[in-house]
Amino acid sequence: MFFLLEARRFPPLKRKPCYGIKERVIQEPNVHFWNNISKPIIALSPMDGVTDPCFRRIVATHGKPDLIVTEFTSVEGILHGAESELGGLVFDEIERPIVAQIYGSNPESFFLIAQLVCELGFDGLDINMGCPAKAVSSKGCGAGLIADPPRAKAILQAARQGIDAWVAGGALPMVDLHPKIGEWLTRRKEVGQLPPSERRPLPVSVKTRIGVNRVVIQEWVSHLLEEKPAAISIHGRTLHQGYRGAADWKAIAEAASIARGSGTLILGNGDIRSLNEAAQRIRESGVDGVLIGRAALGNPWIFRKKSLLREALSHHEPELIPDEPASPLERLEAALEHARLFQESRPLSRFAEMRKHLGWYCKGFPGASQLREKLVRVRNVDEVEALLAPFLSEVSYR
Ligand SMILES: Cc1cc2nc3c(=O)[nH]c(=O)nc-3n(C[C@H](O)[C@H](O)[C@H](O)COP(=O)(O)O)c2cc1C
Repeated sequence: MFFLLEARRFPPLKRKPCYGIKERVIQEPNVHFWNNISKPIIALSPMDGVTDPCFRRIVATHGKPDLIVTEFTSVEGILHGAESELGGLVFDEIERPIVAQIYGSNPESFFLIAQLVCELGFDGLDINMGCPAKAVSSKGCGAGLIADPPRAKAILQAARQGIDAWVAGGALPMVDLHPKIGEWLTRRKEVGQLPPSERRPLPVSVKTRIGVNRVVIQEWVSHLLEEKPAAISIHGRTLHQGYRGAADWKAIAEAASIARGSGTLILGNGDIRSLNEAAQRIRESGVDGVLIGRAALGNPWIFRKKSLLREALSHHEPELIPDEPASPLERLEAALEHARLFQESRPLSRFAEMRKHLGWYCKGFPGASQLREKLVRVRNVDEVEALLAPFLSEVSYR
């Protein structure tokens, strides 16, 4: 069997974990916002250390993808009340629809954290079954779950049970267990982030890869489909590949064909650099949408012509979507806006975390590489402003 590729590291799981909640009868998937957004879906892929609340807001403002996913957040980190993990779960209304991505290996933790994600007002919950980092996958989290399908299923079921418990009106159990979370929630409410007025079930989705050390897309996707997730996003590489080689879009197309008619949407992911490439991948693979990751670094505008992509796909003759890169002025203004947002909303974070973004924005105009060399040393937004000012005045007159 494909999941015996790696030695089992976990004690055997009960087929259906039950935490005092009535066993859930699997009905038609809860698609909610997934049903309502335009198809094919052009979404921002989650990226740890990148798609933090500031970057997500910039992308939502300048690119407006159909869907935004947070960086992955550790369920155990949240349960320990780690401010760094909780901070990633703050969002602005402009980011909607917004899905919280979480990772871990203990179903019981997913049961608890799913309730917190509901309480925070997210539109969906995504479970990371694709992270290849050793620190994550070797502990049976992320892509490590591809090697342990029973646990992957148990996690999906536990998350759903958590959502059901929240919908049924229960108090958040982790608030008593972990006072730091309670304090954090109180502070969120003080700054105006209120829980949703209506307790509606949140759709659960999965983001994963095509296998551990070989492609097992058919078995793996069929296994996940038994749990009827609202969507499965597939990065077309194996765990062992990491980011090497090219994304295998044939495997992604196979997943789309297996899932067709199941009610679960398939989103393809890997190596898309433009909306034209996205259109081609969608046309060839039959996916319901794509996630774009690295091509959005310093380029939130990549999403802005997505309605033209849908138009192009509706014609039999493929049409080219005009590639209109952001102007130097737009890039520099966005860099400054992002830096201001970062300093304002993350006063306790090291400004050094912002430098990589500044470098990604500052491309494609004379003097950009010299500017980037200076930006890698900035310590605050005033220094960014001083460095950008001469460029801003020059490019705005062109
Ligand atoms: C810096 C970085 C951080 C990432 N963090 C996450 C993450 O938190 N969750 C996740 O599901 N994928 C994560 N990924 C994977 C991306 O979402 C995406 O699957 C991958 O980059 C391939 O898509 P792309 O070629 O469009 O970048 C990360 C990728 C990068 C480059």
